[in-house]
Amino acid sequence: KKIVILISGGGSNMAAIVRAAQRDNWRKAFAAEVAAVISNRPDAGGLAFAREQGLAAEVVDHKQFASREAFDEALAAAIDRHSPALVVLAGFMRILTPAFVERYRGRLLNIHPSLLPAFPGLHTHQRALDAGCRFAGATVHQVTADLDHGPILEQAVVPVLPGDTAATLAARVLTQEHLIYPRAVASLLRQAA
Ligand code: GRF
Repeated sequence: KKIVILISGGGSNMAAIVRAAQRDNWRKAFAAEVAAVISNRPDAGGLAFAREQGLAAEVVDHKQFASREAFDEALAAAIDRHSPALVVLAGFMRILTPAFVERYRGRLLNIHPSLLPAFPGLHTHQRALDAGCRFAGATVHQVTADLDHGPILEQAVVPVLPGDTAATLAARVLTQEHLIYPRAVASLLRQAA
């Protein structure tokens, strides 16, 4: 089973999944492997990590396409060259068209840096601080046409501490993201094994 991971930036969640696959020998345990990392941004830092790991590291630059549909079609073509069982959005900062989501229904995951259904969308940590939340966290969910609202697979909660800024809270949440995303992917692979 092939896994394709989509990134837009640093790809720390992608790296956590790649490392878990190596550490826990997913190839042996689930006959699964991360086959490729694809970014919509040529300057995504995560591409260098993917190349260092010997993974296919590809770019489908959204700026090269006249429409969201045309980009999504090109992205799907790049993904399908790997015939993935699972498509993992990891810090992927594009809203995907309903046609794309439908194409990968049931095998498309995302991680969102809030305790969904609270705070869908952007700037989740600042919004949690502004709302006076005592806790924050992250959610791994199936991607559906309803942005940031698909079935929840894993969550992690962290305390909001006095003096927290969006940056300090984001760092605390990110540490948990790196634990729950590999766990969520592994449990899906275990079910499919
Ligand atoms: C993380 O906060 C993640 O929750 C969000 O994108 C941010 C960066 O992720 N989806 P990564 O370091 O690029 O994996």
